[in-house]
Amino acid sequence: MRDAWHPTNALYPGSYLDLSPSTAIPAVTYIDTDRRAARYFADTALVAAELRGRGGTGAVAQVSFLPLDYTARLPLPDHHFDLLISLYAGPVWEHCRQHLAPGGRLLANASHGDASLAAIDPSLRLVAAVHHRDGRYRLETADLDRYLVPKNPEHADAETIRRASRGIAYTTSAFAYVFEPVDRQRS
Ligand SMILES: C[S@@+](CC[C@H](N)C(=O)[O-])C[C@H]1O[C@@H](n2cnc3c(N)ncnc32)[C@H](O)[C@@H]1O
Repeated sequence: MRDAWHPTNALYPGSYLDLSPSTAIPAVTYIDTDRRAARYFADTALVAAELRGRGGTGAVAQVSFLPLDYTARLPLPDHHFDLLISLYAGPVWEHCRQHLAPGGRLLANASHGDASLAAIDPSLRLVAAVHHRDGRYRLETADLDRYLVPKNPEHADAETIRRASRGIAYTTSAFAYVFEPVDRQRS
């Protein structure tokens, strides 16, 4: 992963109230069907205050919220976002991949299966493992081959993972994983 990679706009389907991307990314579009999320993001003073409390200025972050089902076609441009976030929210990658810009990345965890689906998607490759400890995140980019190795290879099947809506067990796991689309012209 290039150290210089700093996403400037992200799409976060199934965000609920998780505002953390806006502490680091200038523009984030959040999506959720839960009315509590809609109420929270509608309170712009509260959102700005939370961002200020978490080290941001609260003023520069562009925070947008769409009260929509991410499995339906979204009123968002294709090839636009440079980060797609999928945390505990289901098969975000397969429904929202078209919104990722060239050179963009997917951040996914295995909880609801998305990292497990990404791990067996030949159009993606793993570029970092994300570790989370004491409120801090650390990206590991070396020796990635030890991640996403299934404890039981038979479980690494897309239909089974989708049906269960759950990730599979790995020999070594991380909080989340960063994937990038394989550049077919270079590979
Ligand atoms: C377990 S919460 C995770 C929230 C957040 N990603 C986090 O890590 O704290 C899952 C959220 O995804 C939302 N969600 C699930 N399926 C969805 C869909 N198809 N469209 C929009 N939101 C969805 C739910 O409403 C819920 O708020």
